[in-house]
Amino acid sequence: MVTCDCPISAASTGPTLSSLCGGGPFMLFMGLLEVFIRSQCDLEDPCNRPKPKLTQEIDNTYDFIIIGGGSGGSVVASRLSEVSDWKVLLIEAGPDEPTGAQIPSMFLNYLGSDIDYKYHTEPEKGACLSSPEKRCYWPRGKVLGGTSVVNGMMYIRGNPADYNDWEAKGNPGWKYSDVLPYFKKSEDNGHMDEVDPEYHSKGGLLPVNRFPYSPPISKAILQAAEEMGYKPTDLNGANNTGFMIAHTNNKNGIRYSMARAFLRPAAKRPNLHVLVNTTASKILIDPRTKKATGVEIVQADGFRRRINMRKEVIVSGGAVNSPQVLLLSGVGPRDELERVGIKVVHELPGVGKNLHNHVAYFINFFINDTDTRPLNWATAMEYLLFRDGLMSGTGVSSVTGKIATKYAEKPDEPDIQYYFGGFLADCAISGQVGELNSNYSRSIQIFPAYLHPRSRGYITLNSNDPLEAPKIFANYLDEEQDIKALVEGIRFAIKLAETSALKAYGIELDKTPVAACKNIPFGTQDYWECAVRHNTGAENHQAGSCKMGPARDPLAVVDHELRVHGIENVRVVDASIMPAVTSGNTNAPVVMIAEKASDHIKRAYGR
Ligand SMILES: Cc1cc2nc3c(=O)[nH]c(=O)nc-3n(C[C@H](O)[C@H](O)[C@H](O)COP(=O)(O)OP(=O)(O)OC[C@H]3O[C@@H](n4cnc5c(N)ncnc54)[C@H](O)[C@@H]3O)c2cc1C
Ligand SMILES: *[C@@H]1O[C@H](CO)[C@@H](O)[C@H](O)[C@H]1NC(C)=O
Ligand SMILES: *[C@@H]1O[C@H](CO)[C@@H](O)[C@H](O)[C@H]1NC(C)=O
Ligand SMILES: *[C@@H]1O[C@H](CO)[C@@H](O)[C@H](O)[C@H]1NC(C)=O
Ligand SMILES: *[C@@H]1O[C@H](CO)[C@@H](O)[C@H](O)[C@H]1NC(C)=O
Repeated sequence: MVTCDCPISAASTGPTLSSLCGGGPFMLFMGLLEVFIRSQCDLEDPCNRPKPKLTQEIDNTYDFIIIGGGSGGSVVASRLSEVSDWKVLLIEAGPDEPTGAQIPSMFLNYLGSDIDYKYHTEPEKGACLSSPEKRCYWPRGKVLGGTSVVNGMMYIRGNPADYNDWEAKGNPGWKYSDVLPYFKKSEDNGHMDEVDPEYHSKGGLLPVNRFPYSPPISKAILQAAEEMGYKPTDLNGANNTGFMIAHTNNKNGIRYSMARAFLRPAAKRPNLHVLVNTTASKILIDPRTKKATGVEIVQADGFRRRINMRKEVIVSGGAVNSPQVLLLSGVGPRDELERVGIKVVHELPGVGKNLHNHVAYFINFFINDTDTRPLNWATAMEYLLFRDGLMSGTGVSSVTGKIATKYAEKPDEPDIQYYFGGFLADCAISGQVGELNSNYSRSIQIFPAYLHPRSRGYITLNSNDPLEAPKIFANYLDEEQDIKALVEGIRFAIKLAETSALKAYGIELDKTPVAACKNIPFGTQDYWECAVRHNTGAENHQAGSCKMGPARDPLAVVDHELRVHGIENVRVVDASIMPAVTSGNTNAPVVMIAEKASDHIKRAYGR
């Protein structure tokens, strides 16, 4: 067994594998596996992991200070530190990435752990009604790499129309043909022989590959979709409608978080400092000139200090925390700042508004298990030795598809995305190996998600304490069309299960009614609407809370170069700037946004 002298403590963080896997003899095995994994500093490169210097020794002044080392912040830190005479500080609230999060099949295991903010919305009026206090759960990564450390790794860009709409709303430079080069800039696609080079490229910092393993039923789902008239399609290519085994941010069965992909190549740069376990409590802004001068930080032991900045502060805290940081800095709606005793530095009514998210529903099906090897000693060794097999993928979750319902604006602008669940090798749900139940059937789930939500919520502060979670009002399903379109998505999913390709698996809709809806006849429109409002799939694609738009737009927070309106030297670069969420998973779009922002910054300083 290789044991390494890990210079960084990450190897010991995260939940234990054995505690997640129930009991019995398998636990002993998982215990051993765990000892092994934790003894590796890194699965890809066990004893030598080049990492940016994690520092507690920081300087007094930097050229750029980036708040948040998540998907957006990792990219910006990497790109800005390419300029060797710029000193760059990246501040991340969470710790370094745990080793176990590199295993694709464990992708659900870190939700609810100490690298998850575990946010809950305020009680909802028409959604999450079955949850305690009607609050929806919003996991978000609190770790270097941010939510890209705990996400499903799927690489999906959205519809071209998404970006054309951003531009049409007053944001020059954001139409699809303008942003496509930025998607391609970061991409290192391992399937160039299968994809259209007009849309894809090789050689970027971000690996884009299918997982080494996906269960055979994945192919049956593609056949089922074909029976319904949807061909297997590269959803990031010329046609955004159809189904595919998704490309994901993995290489050789190892997760590439955005920290791994973008910060590691910067590891040896002396001009990049990375400060973990540190929260930026506010941006320091001169109220007279409205120029930002630095950042105030709070460290884990409560120690506070100020760091000066020469050029810019980049806020990349994500859709929940970026508006929080602006509000804490006195930038936001006057009444909300005054309510919590924060002095108004600049009144900007849009901060925290326009918050939205996709919305989904989980439909359960039973199927006969006919083809899958269980997770056992052999499959675990297969992963450890060859990075292949069950643990090198996310089960049927790597399948996805997009269709347009009758509510879509145009037939080639899909508004429902399908996700799937099941065949996961992590024994995190039932505690049983491979999730088989005693009569050898198992469950899979189909999750339709509505991509064009009209409902809008907002984020505001609970108090002026920077370490307290903000208040989240999600306001799901407030607009009638959101629920109507989602129910269309449910009906299509049920038809998909009735195709001969899936019938071969003995697939059967789970007709156990949602308890609160049991008096409504199962399968009717009223039933599904009730079910969706009670068991709402809260989705993880939060966006819009620091909206990009022209100054004339009362809700706009940043301009088309992502500069905060009315403040000098501050930009926001993450999912919060999306005027409207993209039609698909949001990580790849955030990376694109950050690539483009980095270029805007370099150009602004003649680089
Ligand atoms: C369970 C789950 C599954 C998902 N699956 C997918 C998927 O398969 N594909 C996909 O494309 N997308 C997926 N997503 C969504 C995607 O990961 C996010 O949209 C994306 O990572 C958001 O990037 P961001 O930069 O906006 O924020 P984040 O990545 O969340 O980064 C914000 C960072 O800022 C830090 N931070 C916040 N405030 C402060 C502060 N005051 N001081 C210092 N640091 C701070 C945070 O700790 C965090 O690290 C998923 C999300 C979840 C939760
Ligand atoms: C960050 O905090 C984690 C969890 O408290 C700890 O294990 C780790 O050592 C800290 N990292 C650094 C670099 O201080
Ligand atoms: C895109 O794919 C869908 C589903 O396979 C098909 O119906 C449609 O005709 C395709 N559109 C174009 C422009 O090729
Ligand atoms: C067998 O499977 C069915 C679903 O097909 C389920 O309702 C039942 O509870 C299972 N029985 C046992 C003993 O697990
Ligand atoms: C599914 O399994 C059950 C129980 O073994 C069996 O009776 C049934 O025929 C199977 N269905 C299909 C389609 O294989």
